[in-house]
Amino acid sequence: MDFGIKTHTGMLALMTTLLCCLSGALGKDNCDSPLVSSLPQTSFNSSSQLSNTHSPGFAKLNRRDGAGGWSPLESDKYQWLEIDLGERTEVTAIATQGRYGSSDWVTSYLLMFSDTGRNWKQYRQEDSIWAFSGNTNADSVVQYKLQQSVIARFLRVLPLDWNSNGRLGMRLEVYGCPYKSDVASFDGSSSLLYRFSQNSSQTAKDVISMQFKTLHNSGIIMHGEGREGHSLTLELHKGKLLLHIKTGKARSMSLENQNLLTLGSLLDDQHWHSVVIERVNRHINFTVDKNTQQFEINGDLSHSDTNNELSFGGIPGHGKSRTFSKRNFHGCLENLLYNDVNVIDLAKLKHHVTASGDVTFACSEPTNVPVTFLGPESYLQLPGPLPKEILSVSLHFRTWNKAGLLMTTEMYQHAGSLWLYLSEGKVKLQISKSGRILADATAGSSLNDGQWHSVGLNARRGRISLTVDKEAGSAAHASSPFHVASGNNLLFWR
Ligand SMILES: *[C@@H]1O[C@H](CO)[C@@H](O)[C@H](O)[C@H]1NC(C)=O
Ligand SMILES: *[C@@H]1O[C@H](CO)[C@@H](O)[C@H](O)[C@H]1NC(C)=O
Ligand SMILES: *[C@@H]1O[C@H](CO)[C@@H](O)[C@H](O)[C@H]1NC(C)=O
Repeated sequence: MDFGIKTHTGMLALMTTLLCCLSGALGKDNCDSPLVSSLPQTSFNSSSQLSNTHSPGFAKLNRRDGAGGWSPLESDKYQWLEIDLGERTEVTAIATQGRYGSSDWVTSYLLMFSDTGRNWKQYRQEDSIWAFSGNTNADSVVQYKLQQSVIARFLRVLPLDWNSNGRLGMRLEVYGCPYKSDVASFDGSSSLLYRFSQNSSQTAKDVISMQFKTLHNSGIIMHGEGREGHSLTLELHKGKLLLHIKTGKARSMSLENQNLLTLGSLLDDQHWHSVVIERVNRHINFTVDKNTQQFEINGDLSHSDTNNELSFGGIPGHGKSRTFSKRNFHGCLENLLYNDVNVIDLAKLKHHVTASGDVTFACSEPTNVPVTFLGPESYLQLPGPLPKEILSVSLHFRTWNKAGLLMTTEMYQHAGSLWLYLSEGKVKLQISKSGRILADATAGSSLNDGQWHSVGLNARRGRISLTVDKEAGSAAHASSPFHVASGNNLLFWR
């Protein structure tokens, strides 16, 4: 008897050990641990709640606490449920369920994610915003594996549709695993210099990978140069990434030695983008997010002898290279790996890496974040009442479209309507009443170039000014004296 129990315990211990190590070994591939069930109530937030027992903290899968799930006060498409995972985490799957013992469930929803809870990105799949299929009853769990995993601290579920004979209600779980992140922030005048001992000209293969996030459209992300005029530069230029490789010794200015690749667009959107540069002999794969360009280096590689240093975020001491603007990168770099060496880790240890200027190892978000208007029906509405005598609006926009409405408002006391819009790539302002134009102004040109532009509008007691990119537009033409003051409901369109 005793003997039997002992064996049993021994076997259990052995099995536990096996299970431990098995799951440890599989940890990397099996990124599917439940992330929500252990979170405290304070990690949940929502647009509203039907009652205290319907609060978002009850939205955990298979739980029956409170009213058995979250339900918002109103069932409409302006509701959301938010989860704070505590730190940036890799999310690979999501599962939903209706509210326990009710006829409340969500039949389709969108997913958004964010690092900070302020600047959100839509989950996309197959190149469009992805609507997930939800539930058809209160109890069955519908699980969905994400085609691309998401790295985020905050997740938001936006119900699109729900049981027509019930309310909007849900419980959920998300699955994933910890995400290791080493970040460095550059302020536009700082950089990191990495000195290494390997002879890179003699390695057959080089791999550089990183993620970056910025609101600034230009700046040098990486630069290395050799004694013989050979150089490698990765630069963000007007929202696109340029990879410039110069080879060889002879005729260093000749075009044969110049290699320029361009990838991506609108990358200065304060969301993470990944870059991978792989070289095998003369062959280069340059990957930005999901797009890869394959390329064969022109020119003589045999003299491509580097100084065994690479700089990140800028060119320290304003390098010898004259091909590039001297603008430093302003933003965050994450998980910067050069041939499997974690450069940011080394920088933290001040080991082989020297920082110049202000480099910090955290990524803070600017106070202003952009919003994207994805379709002609999307707009933002600011409810009134606004100050009556003064209208002062400033905004930044970017678009590839030649025409579109930026803002409109009805003026105070039926004085007319104000329209601020883009037409033929110019910003136009028009104030009209009963089909009669009271004032108009135009500023800027070719503004539909995908770059950020600023617009300022100031109206006060019959005077109105319009500025684009800090330059005043044509003076407003008033066909008759008019009274400018804003009314209710300022609307912003794209
Ligand atoms: C919940 O969301 C609301 C609205 O966005 C916000 O004002 C509030 O601070 C959030 N609460 C928590 C605990 O994050
Ligand atoms: C780098 O190459 C030089 C010349 O080819 C050689 O003398 C040196 O030992 C090499 N260094 C390393 C670390 O391989
Ligand atoms: C580039 O990618 C292709 C396709 O994945 C692969 O076959 C090739 O080996 C890669 N080349 C380099 C230089 O990494």
